Amino acid sequence: MLPFLRPHLWFLSFTASILLHTALAWKTFTVSHLDDNSDDTPALQAVLNEYSTDSTILFEKGVYYNIFTPIRFPELKNVEVRIEGNLSYPKDMATVQAIVASPDFPGHWFSFAAGGNNVSLVGSTDPEWGWVDAHGQQPIAWSFSTTGSKNIRAYNNWIYAISDDMDQAFPFNTDGFSAGGTDLLFEDNNIQNGDDCLTVGNGAKNIIFRNSRCEGGHGLSIGSLGRNGQVADVQNILIENTSVWDSLYGARFKSWTGGNGLAQNITWRNIRFKRVAFPIYVTQNYWDQNLGPKPDSPTQNNTRLEDIVFENFFVHLIILRVLVSATHAGIMFQTVKNIVARRIAPLTLSGDPPAVMCNSTIVRNILFYTFFCEIDIVEPCL
Ligand SMILES: *[C@@H]1O[C@H](CO)[C@@H](O)[C@H](O)[C@H]1NC(C)=O
Ligand SMILES: *[C@@H]1O[C@H](CO)[C@@H](O)[C@H](O)[C@H]1NC(C)=O
Ligand SMILES: *[C@@H]1O[C@H](CO)[C@@H](O)[C@H](O)[C@H]1NC(C)=O
Ligand SMILES: *[C@@H]1O[C@H](CO)[C@@H](O)[C@H](O)[C@H]1NC(C)=O
Ligand SMILES: *[C@@H]1O[C@H](CO)[C@@H](O)[C@H](O)[C@H]1NC(C)=O
Ligand SMILES: *[C@@H]1O[C@H](CO)[C@@H](O)[C@H](O)[C@H]1NC(C)=O
Repeated sequence: MLPFLRPHLWFLSFTASILLHTALAWKTFTVSHLDDNSDDTPALQAVLNEYSTDSTILFEKGVYYNIFTPIRFPELKNVEVRIEGNLSYPKDMATVQAIVASPDFPGHWFSFAAGGNNVSLVGSTDPEWGWVDAHGQQPIAWSFSTTGSKNIRAYNNWIYAISDDMDQAFPFNTDGFSAGGTDLLFEDNNIQNGDDCLTVGNGAKNIIFRNSRCEGGHGLSIGSLGRNGQVADVQNILIENTSVWDSLYGARFKSWTGGNGLAQNITWRNIRFKRVAFPIYVTQNYWDQNLGPKPDSPTQNNTRLEDIVFENFFVHLIILRVLVSATHAGIMFQTVKNIVARRIAPLTLSGDPPAVMCNSTIVRNILFYTFFCEIDIVEPCL
């Protein structure tokens, strides 16, 4: 028997040494909290380079952290950022405005723009913890940017950017996730804000966003693309099994007149809407909050739009104003190919039929020659 046992034991000890080696190589940094009035960012920022590979960066449960300055992550490889404590951005608007106006503002409060590979951004499954409180009274506090990264998974995150006083300040520019990299998976996230829940930017490829909830904002957006003649490249985006509540927009595409490039293979499916004014909104004539000069009428180049699907929408609304707007949305028919909306189930609170639907006859005759809206309304059921 012995001769057979030996190699077996040798194999066991070899495996154990690999496991031990892996365990030793992995590091954990627990972010510390100073006191109620101090900023916890600098101490974290100072050690980030040491924890940029094979590491866990932990915001502990039970701790209220002050993230008074934006965190700029270095290039990360095999890193897990666990947000299990409650995080707070500065509460007063003047402080945030000064940070945002400074030349070194990285653009988002959590910026993974240096790139990453195999990075997890993990929230908490305890509904009382793991919140990122962005204080929605801030004019600009985009939360997470993954632009330039690859292989990132963000899940169980709670982003809370509702204004403390809606009459005083509306939470514009409080975007939840900005997705700009490749192979990104966002799932089981909960975002309450006043702007895009998800915004998919230029360079985004192979993005999945699913099983999430968006409330109060501007929905699930692609863009804006093509500003100042940018050549956009966005491909393979799937947004599914998500609910959007109390929002201005739902599934939205926006590009600026004069842009170039291509946005292709983008699907929104199995989405539930509740009190959403524009469940589907496509515009190639975007004009951000009417600031700056109005984009020219669509006579110039534009980002091409191909293979776009809106599918299985359960839409519960006060009034369905427009499904695909022919009035607000400028669509350049020579740059659009194969857009389909199917199995859209609308229900108005009043019980009246929706005011304007995506009627392919109207749409084709007026504007969208290459817009194929298979009007396929199914009976809503609650
Ligand atoms: C990716 O990161 C996770 C931790 O989030 C780690 O367990 C895993 O080993 C990493 N994958 C590779 C291929 O290194
Ligand atoms: C964490 O923050 C959220 C949002 O502000 C809040 O609802 C929750 O009660 C906080 N958790 C604790 C334990 O204070
Ligand atoms: C859809 O999302 C809900 C809520 O997030 C989740 O419970 C369910 O498992 C998801 N379904 C699929 C098919 O992923
Ligand atoms: C479209 O995008 C989805 C999501 O990334 C992907 O799974 C699918 O393979 C893509 N389809 C094509 C034809 O590339
Ligand atoms: C318009 O698009 C064409 C073809 O892609 C390109 O050659 C041209 O440079 C673009 N014009 C502008 C003003 O971007
Ligand atoms: C679509 O619009 C055309 C032209 O106005 C109209 O004749 C038709 O009844 C409409 N179809 C639906 C399903 O509302």
